[in-house]
Amino acid sequence: MHILGPGSLGLLWAARLQLAGIDYRLIVRNQQQLESWQRRDNQLLFNDGSQRHALTLALETAAHDTPIKQLIVATKAHTALAAVQLLQPRLAPASDILMLQNGLGAQQAVARACPGQRLYAASVTDGAWQPAPGELVWAGRGRTTLGPLSADTDSPAWLQTLPPALFDWHWQNPIMPTLWRKLAINCAINPFTLIYDCCNGEVPERAGAWLTACLTELEQLLRQQGIDDDLTGIVHQVIRNTATNSSSMRQDLHAGRRTEIDYILGYACRQARHDGLPVPALERLLQSAQICLQQHQLPTD
Ligand SMILES: NC(=O)c1ccc[n+]([C@@H]2O[C@H](COP(=O)([O-])OP(=O)(O)OC[C@H]3O[C@@H](n4cnc5c(N)ncnc54)[C@H](OP(=O)(O)O)[C@@H]3O)[C@@H](O)[C@H]2O)c1
Repeated sequence: MHILGPGSLGLLWAARLQLAGIDYRLIVRNQQQLESWQRRDNQLLFNDGSQRHALTLALETAAHDTPIKQLIVATKAHTALAAVQLLQPRLAPASDILMLQNGLGAQQAVARACPGQRLYAASVTDGAWQPAPGELVWAGRGRTTLGPLSADTDSPAWLQTLPPALFDWHWQNPIMPTLWRKLAINCAINPFTLIYDCCNGEVPERAGAWLTACLTELEQLLRQQGIDDDLTGIVHQVIRNTATNSSSMRQDLHAGRRTEIDYILGYACRQARHDGLPVPALERLLQSAQICLQQHQLPTD
């Protein structure tokens, strides 16, 4: 199994595969990054929430030449396509690609670039972060809901080798409705936390009627995708459950990192335009979020 991208989620996969004794390679960006890991003896200090493990990771760069049978793509959405394209010569026609990105757009771009491979996508509710280089905290144990992006296929056999104690995965065929639901929830919360620079719990009070209008538009957009959900109820429940959390988008803003706005709210607005559905509240939210990013000298896409 190959994991692409040694960030929080890529390291979480690598640490769990290592603990499970499953053969894997974690693909880092370049030789320089490989060497900085080697200077630390490829050591990862992994805090699984109750125990700390000192793990020696199996790392390589894209330039390695072993064939890739299963590729777990753990980059951010905006780097996924370019990162996968670098590995294309190593992908066999029957290889599986599993995309872990939040939002939508990157999965379809990789599917178009790799028509010969089987493409799966996941919605991940785990929370992992890196307090320092070579350290990983599994802050919230969640679930990986995954399935085929388009074709109606059975779950791949390698999934069954993942021990349930470390990988709480759930097969969902098709996966698109799950990805759309998560995207809609993220659209309703994350951009507001960005523009008001607030925790999730403050969004209803800060956004007021604007949030209500966005929820109505998102419900209409979901219906166009064949999903008839009480999004308003779900979003308010998520806000209550995560009231003190800082969204990933707000964390990216504070860390000066590019956000995934274009793959979340940007994707929703593009889909609405494509469907001929007017979404003025969402368009205004996207514009406000882009202004906020500009003010912080961050990319708006
Ligand atoms: N972290 C979580 O708890 C969590 C939970 C649910 C979903 N997600 C989703 O999972 C995705 C990854 O999130 P993350 O938090 O793990 O992000 P991250 O910490 O930024 O990790 C992304 C990693 O990909 C690497 N990368 C980029 N291009 C590469 C290339 N060509 N070759 C090799 N490595 C490359 C980056 O390297 P550089 O640092 O050198 O750029 C970085 O190490 C996102 O879409 C996120 O929304 C994350």
